[in-house]
Amino acid sequence: MTSMATKYSLSFTVFLSLLLILLATTSSGAQAIKAAHGFSSIEEATVHDIQRAFKQNQLTSRKLVELYLKQISRLNPVLKGVLEVNPDALYQADKADHERKFKAHGSLSPLHGIPILLKDNIATKDKLNTTAGSYALLGSVVPRDAGVVTKLRKAGAIILGKATLSEWSHYRSNAAPSGWNARKGQGKSPYTMGDPCGSSSGSAISVAANMAAVSLGTETDGSILCPSSNNLVVGIKPTVGLTSRAGVIPISPRQDSVGPICRTVADAVYVLDAIVGIDHYDNATIETSRYIPKGGYAQFLKTNGLRAKRVGIVRDFYNIGNDTIAAQIVEQHLKTLRKQGAILVDNLEITNFGEIYTSSNEDIALAAEFKRYINAYLKELVVSPVRSLADLIAFNKKNSKLERLDYGQDLFIKAEATNGIGNAEKAALVNLAKQTREGFVKLMTKNKLDAIVTPGNIVSRVLAIGGFPGVIVPAGYGSDRKPFGLCFGGLKGSEPKLIEIAYGFEQATKIRKPPKLTT
Ligand SMILES: *[C@@H]1O[C@H](CO)[C@@H](O)[C@H](O)[C@H]1NC(C)=O
Ligand SMILES: *[C@@H]1O[C@H](CO)[C@@H](O)[C@H](O)[C@H]1NC(C)=O
Ligand SMILES: *[C@@H]1O[C@H](CO)[C@@H](O)[C@H](O)[C@H]1NC(C)=O
Repeated sequence: MTSMATKYSLSFTVFLSLLLILLATTSSGAQAIKAAHGFSSIEEATVHDIQRAFKQNQLTSRKLVELYLKQISRLNPVLKGVLEVNPDALYQADKADHERKFKAHGSLSPLHGIPILLKDNIATKDKLNTTAGSYALLGSVVPRDAGVVTKLRKAGAIILGKATLSEWSHYRSNAAPSGWNARKGQGKSPYTMGDPCGSSSGSAISVAANMAAVSLGTETDGSILCPSSNNLVVGIKPTVGLTSRAGVIPISPRQDSVGPICRTVADAVYVLDAIVGIDHYDNATIETSRYIPKGGYAQFLKTNGLRAKRVGIVRDFYNIGNDTIAAQIVEQHLKTLRKQGAILVDNLEITNFGEIYTSSNEDIALAAEFKRYINAYLKELVVSPVRSLADLIAFNKKNSKLERLDYGQDLFIKAEATNGIGNAEKAALVNLAKQTREGFVKLMTKNKLDAIVTPGNIVSRVLAIGGFPGVIVPAGYGSDRKPFGLCFGGLKGSEPKLIEIAYGFEQATKIRKPPKLTT
């Protein structure tokens, strides 16, 4: 408890000095931007705002990229949300500005000319490195863009840069701090100057602090939902396979999913629309593409989206942690959901809840899967100083200072000790499937639920082991003024319903406020 208090006051001092520096340096800059361009500010600008400003000739992609670069140079030295800036971002902006002049409005994607930041485990075949935050992959050359990057480029998005992450998506060591990687150091939540949560920490930090318009993260278990919760932004973890994992530094294709982290539900949905769909480098996308609705996901951004939705409440998720401030806010939100027309089905149970949260099945399966798929990823690189998990372990030993070996590499070592999918792994996979079938699937079907609603990202384990989607939306501040979100989870392919519910909740509450870092 005392250590908590010390940590808090220390962070607060850092926060205050940062605020004073910003107050001294930024206000005149923001005014100048407003006067010169009619576009008030990049603060909290949505995809919709930006597209409107493009259309009214109040803004160009070049100006927008320049504004984000300025914001990055100002805030990133402290927040460390951005790992690399794309040297070609301004060139891509000019190209988008040129295209906009010659193409009819309406023929362009909502992401056309919009700067996006990618978690550093998502491959780009350009001047940017793809390293999962580790020096081991610096200088490696990927065979091609990741599947989602190909789709983003096609939509005309501007690749602004790479976002920081918990190194190796937090699959090197349990002891490594969340939001830390060797190349950039420790990322910070712009709200608390403390734990941003990971592993998509930089993606969430960066959009929260307006250092990018939108971003992509990845989730194996909680890595989109948790940083979105801690940084008061919106995260969508799609059904596994809805978005291509090809060219993404893997943990396990059974659980890995690429999804947007943005300031609003609408922004996240525009990004989702751009990245879903078949990619022949990731065969799971073929089968999963049947979930994609005709006309895309933006049609589900309905203000009355909560009406008649059956939303389940499993109280086991609410009794974890002792944050009474957050608990009160959550109860208020449940009332709001009801007022907006949702049918809340309370006091439900996931019969095997305790087993899901205590058994080691997920750990056993992931260890063997990680070894197999990281080795496959490393082998496929065109150039790389490391070619296997064994090489990575040796690299960290050899570069123990640079890579902070004092943080350990227990997960690497445990994975390296596995030998394919043996009897233990097979049993673990059978158990995971059974836990999902008898737990979440039974809960949802028996009660005819559209979604369950849970505070924070505690539900991520249930969603992770079943490959299910979740959407998290800013909900408020708990004790220590720590932000948190409300998460809506559903069965595979339930994104349309989850988006209706999440958007309905967001529009009814409008909780998100930017961190007090700039004027
Ligand atoms: C990629 O890494 C190399 C070091 O190997 C560095 O020189 C280069 O600047 C990095 N690229 C970017 C875009 O930061
Ligand atoms: C996808 O499936 C096809 C046929 O089932 C197979 O030939 C191909 O190798 C698979 N591609 C990948 C990247 O796994
Ligand atoms: C919550 O409070 C109870 C009783 O006061 C205590 O036993 C428990 O350890 C606390 N849990 C957490 C997560 O702090």
